[in-house]
Amino acid sequence: MGIQITPSMLSADFANLESEAARISNADWLHMDVMDNHFVPNLTLGMPVIEALSKVAQQPIDAHLMIADPDRWAPAYAEAGAGSITFHVEAAAAPVRLAREIRAQGARASMALKPATPIEPYEDLLPELDMVLIMTVEPGFGGQKFLDLCLPKIRRARALVDKHGGDIWLQVDGGVSVETIERCAEAGADTFVAGSAVFGADDPADMVEQLRALGSAAAGSHAGRHVH
Ligand code: DX5
Ligand code: ZN
Repeated sequence: MGIQITPSMLSADFANLESEAARISNADWLHMDVMDNHFVPNLTLGMPVIEALSKVAQQPIDAHLMIADPDRWAPAYAEAGAGSITFHVEAAAAPVRLAREIRAQGARASMALKPATPIEPYEDLLPELDMVLIMTVEPGFGGQKFLDLCLPKIRRARALVDKHGGDIWLQVDGGVSVETIERCAEAGADTFVAGSAVFGADDPADMVEQLRALGSAAAGSHAGRHVH
């Protein structure tokens, strides 16, 4: 699998989500940030908005649930039209059961980690997952500064994913831009969320291509990193 760019609609014009999605028709997924003002100190959107956008957008929806009690709410996002559903492991009571329920609904199951949450305790969950999201800012807001302290965890996550085998995507989210995407790709990320970088650009589609080119080149320069 190559590089995927998943722009965050949090930085798009919420009054015009359909046309904003059309401006980035070259994006692989639309990343939708669901915040409940409990798990994070911000309130954004939920199932009805995802359902509405999924009906008119060409790209599949990558739902990032920054919510309390994902065990109760996450599986229903599949019915609302999300093709990938990410829950925060810090909030999940039973992550194995939750991942299985998400997959049973026909969506990709993904687990997110806040910057201070280690990956190692969750190694045994990897076979239940289609993606791991390493947050590179504290979740809650767009436009924050990329946290370099997350890079070693991206490397460790890449090593664990490779050890497990299978096809698990490794996504990064927060402060990803032309300045930081190469560091992430070199560390082993392959799926990149970018909100303010994409929608703050004069030409968002061109920015998607720039990010894709930089990410691909940086990943390619380390293509031999798994050979021992
Ligand atoms: C932050 C969200 C991100 C956010 C990224 O909690 O999960 O998806 O929109 O925005 P940027 O790319 O501006 O950091
Ligand atoms: Zn996000």
